[in-house]
Amino acid sequence: MSLQPHGGLLVQAFNPEKKITTIHKEIELDAISLSDLELIAIGGYSPIEGFLTQVDYESVVAQSRLASGVVWSIPITLPVTKEKASILQPGDEVKLVYGDEVYGVIEVADIYEPNKRKEALLVYGTEDLAHPGVQKLFDRPAIYVGGKITLIKRLTQKFPAYSFDPIETRQLFADKGWKTIVGFQTRNPVHRAHEYIQKAALETIDGLFLNPLVGETKSDDVSAAIRMESYEVLLKNYYPESRVQLGIFPAAMRYAGPKEAIFHALVRKNYGCTHFIVGRDHAGVGDYYGTYDAQKIFEQFTEDELAIVPLKFEHSFYCQQCEGMATTKTCPHDSSAHVILSGTKVREMLRNGEVPPSTFSRKEVVDILIKGMSKEVVK
Ligand code: ADX
Repeated sequence: MSLQPHGGLLVQAFNPEKKITTIHKEIELDAISLSDLELIAIGGYSPIEGFLTQVDYESVVAQSRLASGVVWSIPITLPVTKEKASILQPGDEVKLVYGDEVYGVIEVADIYEPNKRKEALLVYGTEDLAHPGVQKLFDRPAIYVGGKITLIKRLTQKFPAYSFDPIETRQLFADKGWKTIVGFQTRNPVHRAHEYIQKAALETIDGLFLNPLVGETKSDDVSAAIRMESYEVLLKNYYPESRVQLGIFPAAMRYAGPKEAIFHALVRKNYGCTHFIVGRDHAGVGDYYGTYDAQKIFEQFTEDELAIVPLKFEHSFYCQQCEGMATTKTCPHDSSAHVILSGTKVREMLRNGEVPPSTFSRKEVVDILIKGMSKEVVK
């Protein structure tokens, strides 16, 4: 395979044989650190080999780089309470536990108190607690533990048919004969605008890796289970099978806009992508980021240090006068001709059983969303 993982080497830190009978201390993971543990171990976060130590953490927060200089824009941290921190020491091996299961081990390198205000401002661009990522940051415990990890138990994936490690997607893409692969991050159903930019990319790129994020999201996002169903029906009916691979991205959503766009791109490079789509307000929430901030941030790094090409797309919409999908780059008409609905508006319509126009989302997708949402409300 010609495409190098970020930092050069695909991290592999899964060892189910690792002896843990002599390890007595344990740290309770939350859903975010559990998914991060697995993603580190399978190489999704290469070259990161563990939860960030203080020097890497401070460098990532301040400069979007690890201490080594390698670009990395989102701190991958292991928060613990002050009480827990008081019984830990550098050099300890500690079990990483979720529920009643031990999922991994960390070799503690350091234990430090982060400046969360600084982290919020520099990573999320705001310390407003109404921002779901910032809220989560402050909700998590106060002390971070850094150190290399070993994963000893795989997580049970909800979507086994679409769960691939980076080493597997790399092989899949090679087997399909794809030389160029465009990654697509999403936490939403694939609406017409998404489909348009994916297919625009597919006009010149060999294959599309549709890689929906299925880790923790904010409560009003459409659930992963409903989304997966909607991707299946869309791919079956409207995409050439030989040009698309669906696979889940088990990380938690941070809603960090530009910084998360860089992170999303680097992780997709580890999964074997050569290109990555960055559209309108990528990984954004509310009005915290400018529409194209997540595209502009790519200019802060050289092509060589990112080594994955961002494919930047303008805000796309259906134009009633063009009678097709377009952006302001291709459509001369006034915005009154454009079908534009906010995510919040669409979710509201769907919850009320209202059908968004087929110019916004295909009927098959809408049917699944309405059916799925009414089921979830009943639950
Ligand atoms: S995200 O939080 O995962 O970025 P979403 O699933 O809505 O949210 O977006 C997936 C990708 O599609 C992102 O790159 C986003 O910028 C892009 N995108 C979403 N809607 C549009 C649109 N109307 N026009 C152009 N790009 C879009």
